This record gives sequence, C-alpha cells and structure tokens, in this order.
Amino acid sequence: MEKIKIEDLTVRFGKFVAVSNLNMKVRSGEILGLLGPNGAGKTTTIKAILGFVPYEGKVEINAEKIGWMPQNAPLYLNLTVEENLRFFAEAYGVKNARQKIEELLKLVELEKFRNRLVRNLSGGMKQRCAFACAMVHEPDLLILDEPTAGVDPKLRKSFWEYFESLNKEGKTILITTHYMDEAEKCQRIVLMRGGEILAEGSPEDIKRKALGGEIVKVKVARAEDAFKKLKSVGLNAELKGNELSVLVDNAKIRVPELFEILGNDILELEIERETLENAFLRLLGG
Ligand SMILES: Nc1ncnc2c1ncn2[C@@H]1O[C@H](COP(=O)(O)OP(=O)(O)O)[C@@H](O)[C@H]1O
Ligand SMILES: [Mg+2]
Repeated sequence: MEKIKIEDLTVRFGKFVAVSNLNMKVRSGEILGLLGPNGAGKTTTIKAILGFVPYEGKVEINAEKIGWMPQNAPLYLNLTVEENLRFFAEAYGVKNARQKIEELLKLVELEKFRNRLVRNLSGGMKQRCAFACAMVHEPDLLILDEPTAGVDPKLRKSFWEYFESLNKEGKTILITTHYMDEAEKCQRIVLMRGGEILAEGSPEDIKRKALGGEIVKVKVARAEDAFKKLKSVGLNAELKGNELSVLVDNAKIRVPELFEILGNDILELEIERETLENAFLRLLGG
C-alpha cells in the first residue's frame, strides 16, 4: 500500500514551473529520501502533498496522522520548550498529552531545557524541539524537510536513531537531506533536479545506474597485454601502472568472464564501491 501517491504533479509559481509532471509513491513503512540540489523542487513537492500550494495533478494520502517538520519550523519563540509542546498537543487534541510530552522531552534530550524560551535555544536544540512538536500526536506518516540541516554530527546520528526506531515501529518517513550518509540510510531515494525526477531506487540501484555497472580493479602481471586483450573484446577499461579498471556491467561482462580473459595474470582483484555522492554527481552532471 502507498502512504502517498503522486500523479502528474505540476506546481507553477507564475510562469515558473517548480515541479513538472512528477510521479512518485511513498510506500507504507519505508524511509524515502527526496534528494536533489537546492531549487530542485523538494520543498515545493512537500508543500503540494500537504496542500499548502495550488497544484495540478493528483495527490493521494493514506495516512491517519501526519507529522510535518518544515525547513524553518514555526515554533513559538516566546514560549518555552514545554509550552510549545503543550500548544501543539492541544492543537492536535492529544490525549495523555502530559505523558507524551515527557516521553518526547526525554527522547530529544530537552528535559533539562523544558523551561527555556525557544528563542534562547541553540540551532540544534530548536531542531530537536521542532521534531518533538511534529511527533506529539503520534503520526503514522512523517514528512521531514531537512530536519538535520545545521545539526552537529552527534545529534544527526541520534536523530537518525529516532527515525530508524520509529520506522521499525512501522512509521513511514519522507525526508529531505543534503547529507550523503543520511541518504545511504534511506530505503529508497527519489533524486530530483529542475522539478523532475532524475533517478529513483535504493541507494545501490542509484549507484549502479549512475555508473552503468561496477568498477573492478585488477592488478595483473602483464598489464599492457591484459589491457589490449580487454580492449580487443570491446571492454571499457583503463590502465594505470599495473592496475586495470574495468567497468563490469552485467550485460557485457561478469567477473567470472574477466577471470577467463585475463587468466593467470590476475594478481589481485577488487570491486570498487561507488559512493552515493559520486553517483549523484555523475547523474546531476549529465
Ligand atoms: N513561493 C514561490 N514563488 C516563486 N518561486 C518559488 C516559490 N517557492 C519556491 N520557488 C522556486 O521553486 C524552485 C524549487 O524550490 P524548492 O521546492 O524550495 O526547492 P528545494 O526544496 O529542492 O531546494 C526554486 O527555483 C524556487 O526558487
Ligand atoms: Mg527545500
């Protein structure tokens, strides 16, 4: 089942098309990363999902409760952390609000700062407070727009621990981020640019797609000969010193066949791991 189903979504600001004919799904129980450079249309897509901007196309949401954390969370600066949480709890009509608020204060490690005015919180604390406010009504769908922007590495890690534990409980998460280590943690990625989808799939799918296969590094005894052999069978290879880089795309060649071609000359063989960052750069550069 899909939590969110988007069909032919187009969002215009005057003549400018911010999102163009977008089709995507967020499956129930997944962490979906909506990624792409600044201006790609991620926030606009989220705003359309939430009905905050006029759009053409169809957006279907199958969630009971949505937790939304926008890029600049609308917290009440002149209220304390706890008052903000109480405000959101009341607005959502949360039962057992007191208990839920205590749980969340603990979760985001703001118990000691409950009486501090939000305006006096550090950036990371504000993010934590915003996250707690977005969670107070126990949403089954979380829509998080750069929740970890400007957050230090330790806190980013603990944020992701919350996300993953919530996801294990069955909650669906749609998240945007510019951090590659976070993108790696998404079960699926939708990569956007210029209001369109450039690629989608698991992080591994995206890497394979960007590279058109995998790079195998082979150290060989008679490098020049080996290189010529590979070229003569039409393979995409590069030679540096005695090391060959061969693009193994399963349609053309598989690792066992590489063994056959190069035979006993192989000294060492290693499959290179493409980073997600490189994959994005390749896809975006094209
Ligand atoms: N209210 C608006 N009016 C005009 N243009 C907008 C508005 N909101 C966003 N845009 C433009 O739409 C494009 C996509 O923006 P946005 O969805 O915020 O991108 P992202 O979140 O991927 O960085 C950008 O070029 C941005 O300047
Ligand atoms: Mg944005």
